[in-house]
Amino acid sequence: MKKKMTFTTHSPEETAEFARIFIDYLQPGHIITLSGDLGAGKTTFSQALLSHLGAEPPFPSPTFTIINQYDLQLDTLGVQKGIERIYHIDAYRSDGDGMEMLGWSDIVSDAWGVALVEWPELMIRLLPDDVIRVAITALGEQERQFEIAGV
Ligand SMILES: Nc1ncnc2c1ncn2[C@@H]1O[C@H](COP(=O)(O)OP(=O)(O)O)[C@@H](O)[C@H]1O
Ligand SMILES: [Mg+2]
Repeated sequence: MKKKMTFTTHSPEETAEFARIFIDYLQPGHIITLSGDLGAGKTTFSQALLSHLGAEPPFPSPTFTIINQYDLQLDTLGVQKGIERIYHIDAYRSDGDGMEMLGWSDIVSDAWGVALVEWPELMIRLLPDDVIRVAITALGEQERQFEIAGV
């Protein structure tokens, strides 16, 4: 049986601190799905992960581009962990075929990449079974619950 972990934050800053802890469980090849309503904090959490791993800012939301790719430079935490690339994906405006055209199968088979996927519900049949699932729920103005499954 897979374990589930729950964590609650009370500000975007605390979410960024949580992202730093989360990175300890990240490995090259991982696919992280981020579920939650609009404004839950999927992009905020992704941006914190990108920042901690040492990607070069800015980190715009992939709302319209659908996939933003970051190649990590040497001496970043990401490369120290063996992660060479991060894909930040927002599937909201895409469909399965669109994702395939944008190179989704290359992303899945990239053993040195990490993919962060917002709105995974919209590409569910393209996702492998062994993803790490993060579900974010707004409990209040600044209170967010993170439920992690699959680590
Ligand atoms: N604890 C928190 N963690 C993350 N974001 C928070 C938190 N509290 C408030 N926010 C705010 O909620 C919003 C989340 O937006 P965003 O990350 O774009 O959500 P999503 O990508 O899920 O639509 C941001 O304006 C952010 O500042
Ligand atoms: Mg978003």
